[in-house]
Amino acid sequence: MNIETSAPGKCILFGEHAVVFGQPAVAVAIEQRIHVSISPIEGEYWKLEGGRFDSKKHPHLNMLRKQLWPKAKGAPALSIEIKGDIPRASGLGSSAALSVAAAAALRAARGRWCTQSEQGDIIWTEGYSSLIPDTDAYAPEESGQRAHLFDSSSLHLTGVEAVNADECALIGHAVEAAAQGGRASPMDASTCAHGGVVLLSDTIEEGSKYLYQRQLRMDDETRTWELHDVGTPEGAAEVYLVIGNTGVYAPTSEQVAKVAKAIQKEPERMREIETIGIIARRGIEALNKGDFDAVGRAMTENQVMLRGLGVSCPELDTLVRAAAPSSLGAKLTGAGGGGCMVALTRQPEITLEAIKAAGGTALISSFGNVGMRLEKGIEGTFWNPLT
Ligand code: PMV
Repeated sequence: MNIETSAPGKCILFGEHAVVFGQPAVAVAIEQRIHVSISPIEGEYWKLEGGRFDSKKHPHLNMLRKQLWPKAKGAPALSIEIKGDIPRASGLGSSAALSVAAAAALRAARGRWCTQSEQGDIIWTEGYSSLIPDTDAYAPEESGQRAHLFDSSSLHLTGVEAVNADECALIGHAVEAAAQGGRASPMDASTCAHGGVVLLSDTIEEGSKYLYQRQLRMDDETRTWELHDVGTPEGAAEVYLVIGNTGVYAPTSEQVAKVAKAIQKEPERMREIETIGIIARRGIEALNKGDFDAVGRAMTENQVMLRGLGVSCPELDTLVRAAAPSSLGAKLTGAGGGGCMVALTRQPEITLEAIKAAGGTALISSFGNVGMRLEKGIEGTFWNPLT
């Protein structure tokens, strides 16, 4: 008896680094996914890939366990299997994909209580949602009960009806933040949960479907982000993303600090950040029109700006140059300094070979992929907190 879910990785099309200063950034779900399978087991301890689960090695899963599967309330031990083809620690969202897929699996396994309004709309009586202000996915322990809403008409939804992208994105962000010392943008979790193309900004942007706001207290300030669903543009089936990995390790925090220092030293360089914002908005417009030639041009312009900021590196430049002749556009993706680049292309095999010949490892992804998904459900649940 098992439940299986999956969630895609992501790469950033526009706006990395500038997003730290409030400019818009755009991420796209990639074809590569993480699959999570869970089944209940006898005994006290969780298992991961057949061995004993070590909570220190797996902070994301441990936090999810506290939020959705509290032992103190009688939740049984679980055996977890994780499979996938998203390279780890390369800026492609593998930890967010794991968090989102595992959140979906646990939710499907316990179900979700709700009541119905007179109009027939679902009112969640437990769990987390960007529309529910009175439960807190960011709390260190489970805080998802809305006891005042339970009544004799409450329903226990199970399987796919219990799972939704909004809740998985919210829990995924909370888990990422907790595992990363309180700092995480919601971009990864939201893109892995909703799929397609997701736009994040510090203001509500016109022209894209507004999703919700996220807030996170980081150090002394509260950061606020507005998230939007750009959807999957028309004509997306004819283009591909080819992601090239330099294999060079560069921690995101160091790259972010480098940009902060450069701007502190020369405040007028904020212009460059603003220019990235302008390029990103132009890229979004092109996406909305399905004009992939213009999307590619905006990516290449974005790369010029990122190089100027000092977050590219010789290895990234080499892969970007190698991809350029067969691509509509190419740039680094994520924090830079190493890690990955992405090319938008109509000739994925040619671009793939060019990146490999230049010394990178590479993978091909279709453009715009589905978000979190329940792959295999069961009748009923493994555990129901109210019985
Ligand atoms: O490397 P990634 O995919 O985690 O992206 C980092 C993006 C930055 O803009 C550089 C940092 C951030 O927090 O947004």
